[in-house]
Amino acid sequence: MMIREFRRQDINRVLEIEEESFKDPYPVDILIDIFNLGAGFLVAEHDNIIVGYIIFWIRYEDEGHIISIAVDEEHRRKDVGTQLVEAALKIFKRYNIDKIKLEVRISNKKAIDFYNNNGFIEKEVLKDYYEDYEDAVLMDINLNEK
Ligand SMILES: CC(C)(COP(=O)(O)OP(=O)(O)OC[C@H]1O[C@@H](n2cnc3c(N)ncnc32)[C@H](O)[C@@H]1OP(=O)(O)O)[C@@H](O)C(=O)NCCC(=O)NCCS
Repeated sequence: MMIREFRRQDINRVLEIEEESFKDPYPVDILIDIFNLGAGFLVAEHDNIIVGYIIFWIRYEDEGHIISIAVDEEHRRKDVGTQLVEAALKIFKRYNIDKIKLEVRISNKKAIDFYNNNGFIEKEVLKDYYEDYEDAVLMDINLNEK
């Protein structure tokens, strides 16, 4: 498996994974806008097929911010997500960004466990954060303390 930069021609496969992974997936035009605005965008490729991706802001008020991560259902629990997070954290380090935040649905216990496993800590609950009014858990990691 390899982690590499997203390319425009990857968009349909990324969209497939996004749609199978989230009940409120980003539409294709938003994903492309995020990319065009300069977000970090990495994909995990296995046997020439994209099996996961991570999207993040490299500078977001001087902190990093993970926007989205998803792994194709068939390839979960095989370390793909961890490798994507580790690759993103290396890039943040390169930009001297030590603090990285993310929000995750409070019901998404698997993802919260996954982020905990990757060193992120639960900081606070953001009430009614999502469009359907579900709360988010704000999590962060300080790379200086790692
Ligand atoms: C969250 C997600 C990206 C994790 O990717 P993954 O490739 O399956 O994760 P990894 O194999 O690297 O998991 C590493 C560790 O995280 C934890 N973890 C991952 N999936 C888990 C699950 N379903 N239940 C409990 N813990 C889990 C475990 O500690 C795991 O280590 P282990 O497999 O040795 O027990 C993936 O489940 C996914 O795409 N989910 C749907 C989209 C989503 O919820 N994204 C995050 C919200 S922004």
